[in-house]
Amino acid sequence: MLKKILVFVGILFSVFILSKCNSSHKVSNQEDAQKLPKGISTINSPEKNYADFCADCHGRKLEQFINRKWTNGNSKSDVIKSIKYGIVSAGMPAYENTFSQKEIEALTDYILLKSVDKIEKEKPILSSKVYRSNAYNLQTEIVVDNIEIPWGIKVTGDGTIYFTERKGTLKIKKPNETIIAVKNIPTVKNRGQGGMLDVTLHPDFKNNQWIYLSYSKNNPNGNGATTAVIRGKLVGDELKEIKEIFEALPYNGKRHHYGSRMVFDDQGYLYISVGDRGVRDKNPQSLSNSCGKIHRVHDDGSIPKDNPFYGKNNVVPSIWTYGNRNPQGLVFDEVNKIVWEHEHGPKGGDELNLVNKGVNYGWPIASYGINYIGTKFTDITEREDFQSPVTYWVPSIAPSGMAIIKGENYPKWNGNILTGSLKFDYISRVKVNGSKMLEEELILKDIGRVRSIEMGADGYLYVGVEDPGRILRIVVRD
Ligand code: HEC
Repeated sequence: MLKKILVFVGILFSVFILSKCNSSHKVSNQEDAQKLPKGISTINSPEKNYADFCADCHGRKLEQFINRKWTNGNSKSDVIKSIKYGIVSAGMPAYENTFSQKEIEALTDYILLKSVDKIEKEKPILSSKVYRSNAYNLQTEIVVDNIEIPWGIKVTGDGTIYFTERKGTLKIKKPNETIIAVKNIPTVKNRGQGGMLDVTLHPDFKNNQWIYLSYSKNNPNGNGATTAVIRGKLVGDELKEIKEIFEALPYNGKRHHYGSRMVFDDQGYLYISVGDRGVRDKNPQSLSNSCGKIHRVHDDGSIPKDNPFYGKNNVVPSIWTYGNRNPQGLVFDEVNKIVWEHEHGPKGGDELNLVNKGVNYGWPIASYGINYIGTKFTDITEREDFQSPVTYWVPSIAPSGMAIIKGENYPKWNGNILTGSLKFDYISRVKVNGSKMLEEELILKDIGRVRSIEMGADGYLYVGVEDPGRILRIVVRD
């Protein structure tokens, strides 16, 4: 009998111990779950999932879904499919391993509800608004209105504005005149992030009228597209003597990460940025292709002999830096004689970089960001042989457009670097001392989705925004 009782107590005791073990195991599991990227194995509201995982590319206010011409259908099952399996060639990640089916359905309902045509896009009221900042009260004047996406802007000393629209135009707006469209420009691949991209003018434009255009070029011998640059002489309203001066190789079928900013330094070298074209594990770290790089060429496209990899075997000789992701900001600092760039990180890790000869920025081996779906791809943020950013943004601001302030109109900010944010509708102003960052202020909050910024040769800052497409002049009101 006693034996039986002992066995019974023993069983009870072991059940107790086992259940303890189980419950403590569960607790540590929950702790692990908290350490996992948000969205994985926890159920979050669609608002939160959208803000954490989708807003970087589709807009915080779902701008990209409002009045959308849907490519892959907008029935509930179409949208679920898009989210689950992604559209990899366009840069839309697959979220099937990130979210539960329930979360995907909730996100779908959320997007479909918010995207009904009735909802009007919020149009920012600009002319009456005063934007306060540490140094100045700023106001915006609309100088060009009702345009598509103003990807690149250049302004000459007489206030003439040369700008591209991504859909495939180059246009000129002279003060007090109507806009004219320039003829004989290249046909572009207007899909995904591609189209007519940056515009720049030759340093001696006044005398030679050379205009440079970077764009997404269709493969003349097959499939895919790439980043290319042409120059042409502006004669009347037409480009003449067109010559292709740069073509990034190889062509590829993806629709994103063209990079494509251009800037001249004071020696007449032209720098051209090219994104990794969505082939992150192959392109940026190999010197035998042009993608995920910044290039340096002469004004006619010929290759400077002092380029860092010039004359080496199996290397693209125009490469100036490598290990870049998607650089969409490039400026020359005339005082310190240095080129700056910024580039889009993945989810977090957008970077502000100095462009030094021959350096490797480490993408995708080193990054402050993580995959769009919330998983990690590297633990390395910095490495001795990689050049680290001067500063970086987590979460991503989605940087586009860049300028360095100079001249008489904003004297307290001379030398400061401006970076536009596609995502947060503001401009980051960074004060630097040579190559060191001293402070950052966010200015012109809610100005719109900033695509381009130009320090005009007429002394004014210009900002190109989307939805609605406009070019704004920034004036100080004190
Ligand atoms: C890295 C950028 C990026 C992120 C992050 C991203 N998307 Fe996308 N998404 C895209 C691109 C690019 C497309 C393709 C657009 C096209 O084909 O016109 C797209 C397409 C879509 C489509 C199909 C639209 C259509 O026209 O058929 C849906 C739905 C969608 N995304 C939902 C989401 C949701 C929900 C999230 C977050 C969980 C998300 N996306 C995150 C870039 C992104």
